[in-house]
Amino acid sequence: MFSLTLKALPINRKDAKMPDTLYKYAIIGTGIPHEHPGPKGYGMANTHWPAFNSTGKVELVAIADIIPEHSASFLQRHGQQAREYSDYETLLQRENVDIVSICTWPHLHASISIACAKAGVKVIHCEKPMAITWDEAKAMKQAAEEAGALMSFGHQRRLIRLFQHVRALIESGSIGTLVQIEAHCPNLYDWGSHWLDMLQYYNGDSDVDWVMGQVESNTETRIFGALHENQGLLVYRWKNGVTGILLTGAKSSIGCIHRIIGTEGIIEVLTERKYRIFDRKGHNGDEVEVPQGDQSDHQLSAADVIRQLDEPGYVSTLNISNAIKATELYFAAYYSSMHRGRIDLPLEYGGNALISMFDSGEIGPNRKNLEGVIG
Ligand SMILES: NC(=O)c1ccc[n+]([C@@H]2O[C@H](COP(=O)([O-])OP(=O)(O)OC[C@H]3O[C@@H](n4cnc5c(N)ncnc54)[C@H](O)[C@@H]3O)[C@@H](O)[C@H]2O)c1
Repeated sequence: MFSLTLKALPINRKDAKMPDTLYKYAIIGTGIPHEHPGPKGYGMANTHWPAFNSTGKVELVAIADIIPEHSASFLQRHGQQAREYSDYETLLQRENVDIVSICTWPHLHASISIACAKAGVKVIHCEKPMAITWDEAKAMKQAAEEAGALMSFGHQRRLIRLFQHVRALIESGSIGTLVQIEAHCPNLYDWGSHWLDMLQYYNGDSDVDWVMGQVESNTETRIFGALHENQGLLVYRWKNGVTGILLTGAKSSIGCIHRIIGTEGIIEVLTERKYRIFDRKGHNGDEVEVPQGDQSDHQLSAADVIRQLDEPGYVSTLNISNAIKATELYFAAYYSSMHRGRIDLPLEYGGNALISMFDSGEIGPNRKNLEGVIG
């Protein structure tokens, strides 16, 4: 195994232009105070603030949370002072902020991000997954465009050096022409939003032609409040002819985290720091390590979204136009499962078919006994 050293990205704090004044920064959803983050509260605000603070370009002017103890705990933990609000709309009315981090659960992402755009916030950095329904996701994009706001999402893995290196290998033709990209993860929505975005990233953020999906669940599984399948399968075809495959479920596996198959070789991503490559140039599964460098993916993400204010015209790789493509894939997969057929994009069904199937008893603990129907 050998190790690679990558060049520092241009968004490195030392190289970046320092602003004359600090950007006014606020957080909505300061996080459940706890020591063991999990699917009922991860406290992402505690990752956002140190990451934005590490750029040296922001001052925390205000925070909003419906639970005052969460705000108090957040400020104490980070040794900060900021104006505290129990309602984000009042914060948006009273504070003329440049940047807002939205760290609430997904069912609030659409209403809060749209309110931020309407209030004139310039940079809106919202946690993933984007929204609870496809119509909400489209409304977020429309609101950002109408307001001229720069909206981005917590797909910070695009800033992990290993994934950037793998994309560069693909683009340089190391494995020939791209044929298929595979991945697995626990679910389509919470984890899947990261990997579907990463598969988009590997394939140059290309447009998708069609989607086939299947989801299954006998329980009511909720992560950050949102309904999830227990097991799923998504197969899709990009317009450039590449096939995407995502397997989901607690026991899903493809033997690595991502497999990228080309006409002349295969790359297997093993962890967020290691991959191996098989190709016609003699690489026969050599493991390659790509260290992350001094800055975490979250610090690089914060620098990347702030750079949009420093350099008018620069658009973050975490931007909404990229994020919404991954979002359309999981909503199309749910709809394909409900519709029992291939879905050609753009997706017209604006709801969340997973919730519809759960409500109608097609999946979940109240699912109807289908044996008689099938027999
Ligand atoms: N990017 C990543 O890798 C990553 C990792 C973990 C979680 N997440 C995402 O982060 C988001 C937040 O999850 P979390 O676990 O950090 O949340 P959390 O439960 O720790 O915190 C959410 C906070 O929002 C507050 N809140 C609820 N309603 C509100 C309202 N109307 N106005 C203001 N505040 C309100 C809650 O009181 C709580 O303090 C989720 O969408 C989750 O999927 C992303």
